[in-house]
Parts: sequence; C-alpha cells; structure tokens
Amino acid sequence: MTKKAFSGRIVVLGFGSIGSGLMPLLFGHFEDPRVTVITADDRNIEIAREYGVEHQIHPITKANYARILQDNLMAGDFLVNVTVDVDSLDVIKWCADRGVLYLDTVVEPWAGYYTDERLPVHERSNYFLRQRVLDHRAEIEPGATAIIAHGANPGLVNHFVKDALLQIAAENGMDAKPETRQEWVELAHGLGIKVIHIAERDTQRSSVPKDRGEFVNTWSVDGFISEGCQPSELGWGTHEKSFPVDGNTNPAGSGAAIYLNQPGLMTRVRSWTPDEGPMHGWAITHNETISIADFFSGVVSGSLYRPTVHYAYHPCDAAVSSMHEIAGKNFVPQERQRIITDDVVDGVDELGVLLMGNEVGSLWYGSNLSIDQAREAAPHNNATSLQVVAPVLAGMLWAVDNPDRGILEADELPHDTIIETCRPYLGTMVSAWTDWTPLEGRGVLFDEDVDDSDPWQFGNFRVS
Ligand SMILES: NC(=O)c1ccc[n+]([C@@H]2O[C@H](COP(=O)([O-])OP(=O)(O)OC[C@H]3O[C@@H](n4cnc5c(N)ncnc54)[C@H](O)[C@@H]3O)[C@@H](O)[C@H]2O)c1
Repeated sequence: MTKKAFSGRIVVLGFGSIGSGLMPLLFGHFEDPRVTVITADDRNIEIAREYGVEHQIHPITKANYARILQDNLMAGDFLVNVTVDVDSLDVIKWCADRGVLYLDTVVEPWAGYYTDERLPVHERSNYFLRQRVLDHRAEIEPGATAIIAHGANPGLVNHFVKDALLQIAAENGMDAKPETRQEWVELAHGLGIKVIHIAERDTQRSSVPKDRGEFVNTWSVDGFISEGCQPSELGWGTHEKSFPVDGNTNPAGSGAAIYLNQPGLMTRVRSWTPDEGPMHGWAITHNETISIADFFSGVVSGSLYRPTVHYAYHPCDAAVSSMHEIAGKNFVPQERQRIITDDVVDGVDELGVLLMGNEVGSLWYGSNLSIDQAREAAPHNNATSLQVVAPVLAGMLWAVDNPDRGILEADELPHDTIIETCRPYLGTMVSAWTDWTPLEGRGVLFDEDVDDSDPWQFGNFRVS
C-alpha cells in the first residue's frame, strides 16, 4: 500500500479512546506523519510516546482555544477534533479562516451545554447543533474542507445506507446508479423504504465486572452520558400516521427530525441485528438520525417523501447496567468511569443499518467486528473504537485529496470510496435479509395497542 504524502502537521485534539486508537492508522496510512496531540489530561500518554508524537496537556476552553490553535496550526495543516466539550463550530470557523483542514466525529458544544437546564429542550438537541453549523456554511464557503460528524455513527453508517439501498435495488432486479441527491431520494422511495434504524449490538465484555457507582462503556463515558441526556430524536418519516404524544417539531431548519420530551437514555425501541435477532435498543440522539433523514427528504410524484430514521443502540451489557444505574439517580453521573479496551475478553460490535419497507424484505448491512479481529487489524483499539477511527482516517485521506470543499457532512462524501478505505478495519461485512417486524410476537401474554395495518409505524417500534 502506498502511504499518503501530506506535508502539513496533523493535530489530534483529544486523546481518549478515539484519539489514541487513531495513532496506528495515521502511521499506517500517512507517510512520516507529523503529529501533535493536544488534550486535557495525561490519559494514554504512553501511546503518544510509543509513536513519538508531541503530547501537550491543554484543556481547551472558549477563552483559550484560539491561542492554543494559533500556537500549533498553520495553513495546510489538519485538525482532527476528537475531544468532548470543545465546540465544533468555533473551531471550524477558526480553521476555515486559516486554511486548516478539519474533521470531527460529533458536532460538539462547549462544556456544560448538554445539561444546561436553562436552555429550551430543542436547543439541547443534535438537530439544533447540526443546524448551527449548516447555517454557517454560506458564511465560510468556499474554504478549507471541514468534514463534520464522520466517525462510525454518525459517519460510516451514512455510507452504509447508500450501499444497502443499492443492494436492495439489485435484489429487486434494478440496475440503479443514483448520482444526485434527488436520484437517491427517488431510489429509496421507489424501493418503499419507510424506516431506517442504525441497529447496533455491542457484546464486548471485560474481565473486570462493572462495580456499583461506576459507568463502564466501550467508548467515551462522558460522550455517552451527554448524548443520553439529550432529548431522544428521530428523522420523522412521511408514512407516519400518528405523532407521538410527547413529540415536538423544531422551530427552524429543514424540519427533517422531531424530538421527544424525554432523554434517549429513557427511550427504548424494538430493533433487530443478525447475531442478536430481535432486541430492545435505545433511541439515543445522533447526528445521523437527522442528516440521513434530511438527505433522503424530497418531493417524488408531487408528494414529500422521507423515511423515519433513528438509532437503536444496545451497548455492551456493562453499559446497559450503567445506564440503569444513572437513570435511577436522575442522571447524576457515577463517581467513577471506565472504558474497556485491553481488558476486553470477548465480544463483537455489530454495527449496521436496517432498512425496512421493501417487499423483498428488510436488509441489515454493516460491520460485524470481534475484539479478536480488531486486535489483529490494529493495536490500541477495541471493536467499537476501530469502527470509529477507520472512517476518521478515510475522511482525512479524502479531505487531503479534496482540500477546498468547505463544510461537508458524511452524506455528501462518496460512500464507496469511504467504505473501501475502512473495509480492512471492519471485520466481517454482513448483508442479512430478514422478515422481522416490530409486530413479531406481540400481544401474546397481554393485549397490546399496535397498528396491524402497517408494521413500520414508529408507535409499533417504541417500547418506552
Ligand atoms: N461518531 C462516532 O462514531 C463516535 C464514536 C465514538 C466517539 N465519538 C466521539 O468522539 C469524541 C472522543 O471520544 P472518546 O471515546 O475518545 O472520548 P474519551 O472520553 O475517551 O476522551 C475524550 C478526550 O478529550 C479530551 N478532552 C476533554 N475535554 C477537553 C478539552 N476541554 N480540551 C482538550 N481536550 C479535552 C480528554 O482529555 C480525552 O483525551 C467524543 O466526542 C465522542 O462522542 C464519536
């Protein structure tokens, strides 16, 4: 493999599970990369030393970010923002003004934003945070490429949706070659896609069980608690017949998504993955829920079409137990937290998209990555982080080749190129057809209020 030549400096902001997991991929794919890590603490410093990269400890705030970035970056450099608590928009604007390439995996606000009860609920949504960035596009384009929300999900799964649509088209005997957004919308509509889940089941387990008063997860505990405390959000499909009693529309923007008046940590939905089969996952808000729904919104034959899109996340069992504990304490975080990586003894992260509504059946398409496959592919990662750092790398490589494209979302990048770059890090790619619906097995022990006339109504998926 030819390594990518890039003469600029790569500054990795944040050195938690993602920043440190990115190191082997940067050194594997860039020719002699010049890397600086800037982070808030000394976590994983031994990994920085192993790769011989400069490691600075500077907690970034609104007051100091411009000075710290100024000291470390110039035109032609690349900033990868994999922190929690550092505002994406402020950093994007700074980079755009100076010709610095940018990529993040979440559209992040400054510290304290997600749980600031003085803000109206809709402003604590990912819909609002995404819209804030999109509203600035006109202001700062054309400029250095800034790819937002490009990890596993959001990011990689956005590309999986397009690949899955092409697979469903082929199964329907169609030779589809959509290029424009409208052509993608027409394809999804023509195939009858009504609901898209980002359906994930993580079964990784540590040799050390979760203790009382500890939040255990396979990626950022701070990040997970933050998004879990945001309102649950979903792209709202045009086939939906009834609006949730606790549902709310957003006051501005595309209107592609709605939010529920409760946190994602309390919102469970029925879903399905190939290994797990039927499961309850959590509809935690994510950027892709909104951007995929927005991308696939369009007028077809005179009527607006949009699929319902949401996350159905079954995290590792220790995280489920941690969620139960934090919910019982009204979201006051546990005193201790632990991200499991080297201590993972077994398990798989099954991360894919489940497209429902086509007559042939529903298709789950995604990555089935075991901890053993992850360790074989790259050090310093568990299965979850590797599914994130692969698309970070793929986005960076694409941005280096396309340096002046302004702010971009995953849905605007070439899905096939990104998946191809990621593939060596994704374990087994699985395309699994299923006839599962959320009505399966319902109403047996008790009567249930379901809509038998259309399995794909959100009310049929929702548990709590
Ligand atoms: N899109 C995806 O698929 C995806 C998946 C996993 C994580 N993420 C996101 O990636 C980011 C990193 O995740 P992680 O698992 O590495 O998190 P982590 O909690 O393991 O690490 C966060 C890192 O950010 C640093 N940090 C925190 N506040 C900072 C500040 N003010 N200034 C500088 N550095 C600061 C910490 O020191 C730490 O190194 C999070 O925003 C997370 O939500 C996205």
